[in-house]
Amino acid sequence: MSRGSSGEKRSRFPLSIFWIVLSVLLITAGVHVAILLGMEKAGWAPIVQTHIMVLYWISVSVLLTLLIRSRMKVAYDTPLQEISEATKKVAHGDFSVRIAPLHEEGKEDYLDTMIRDLNAMITELGSIETLKTDFVSNVSHEIKTPLAVIQNYSSLLNAENLPEHERKEYAVAISAAAIRLNTLITNVLRLSRLENQQIRPKSEQFDLGGQLTDCLLGFENIWEEKEIEIEPDIEDDVIITSDRELLSIVWNNLLSNAFKFTEEGGTVSVSLRTEDKNAVVSVKDTGCGMPPETVRHVFDKFYQGDTSHSIQGNGLGLALVKRIVDIVGGEIRVESEPGEGSTFIVKLTGASKKN
Ligand SMILES: Nc1ncnc2c1ncn2[C@@H]1O[C@H](COP(=O)(O)OP(=O)(O)OP(=O)(O)O)[C@@H](O)[C@H]1O
Ligand SMILES: [Mg+2]
Repeated sequence: MSRGSSGEKRSRFPLSIFWIVLSVLLITAGVHVAILLGMEKAGWAPIVQTHIMVLYWISVSVLLTLLIRSRMKVAYDTPLQEISEATKKVAHGDFSVRIAPLHEEGKEDYLDTMIRDLNAMITELGSIETLKTDFVSNVSHEIKTPLAVIQNYSSLLNAENLPEHERKEYAVAISAAAIRLNTLITNVLRLSRLENQQIRPKSEQFDLGGQLTDCLLGFENIWEEKEIEIEPDIEDDVIITSDRELLSIVWNNLLSNAFKFTEEGGTVSVSLRTEDKNAVVSVKDTGCGMPPETVRHVFDKFYQGDTSHSIQGNGLGLALVKRIVDIVGGEIRVESEPGEGSTFIVKLTGASKKN
């Protein structure tokens, strides 16, 4: 019997059926002869014999037709009707349907393979739909919070005889909420463009160490304010061929997290090394660290493990980082322990040393 690429049986009507039908026909022909001989021996009238043989062959034909019909029903009608019902439900948005396999493992045929693939497709479609719904509700939720702040404080600003310090306080709150909204929308747009492949990574040569130092310096205010110690260990003259703009989003997000999740007086270390033709960048902090559950989800959209910090940010930073690292063909991993700090390690290809 021929088998498909995954080892399943190729035919629901194997060649053995032909032999079975042939044998049945030969046996019935044999019975025909035996009945005839019996009737001859008994001396039955020819007209009776003819009627009996006609009745015999009508019965044989009816039985054979019913047998083939029931076999076709089991082999095709029932499973195809079930598949048709399931696809109809999926078309109407019900992704909970699953079609039961027809045979146990090891005895599958191509219809079982088709059913398995259909089930996988329905699961996949269901998770995409959930992601889409979650994404829309997450974005709406994240937009509502700063909007509520803006609404509240702007109505407070309307009050007469408002003391100057309160007016300033409300204005600062409104401005912070507007910045939060702006960051959220920028990140959502970036992520959506990256996911829809509208951004093709550019390929240019630049000094990776220089870029890391520039990004680090962008956080000077924060590290001075929080008295965080900086430990840079950046190899000189590392040239990378990649997308400068996209990589700067990566470093800024990793550094922003390191400074955000590190308490006053902590340390943030940034290192750059080359290994063969790879550049390895690590951003390490002595901050709050993460439990394994958070580590598992850090790259998910809108995931924020540490809810006490959730007021700062929307949980999109690392989702963007992961997408960019994937697009530029790199790898990212996290090492973290609660209370022990976190290290994000990014490996990029296309690195060389300037001569
Ligand atoms: N260096 C870190 N130390 C401890 N926890 C971290 C660190 N980096 C990320 N996390 C955890 O991972 C979550 C997701 O990080 P991500 O950067 O995606 O979101 P965010 O920083 O909360 O918001 P956004 O980046 O949108 O401003 C954080 O909320 C935090 O719980
Ligand atoms: Mg972040």
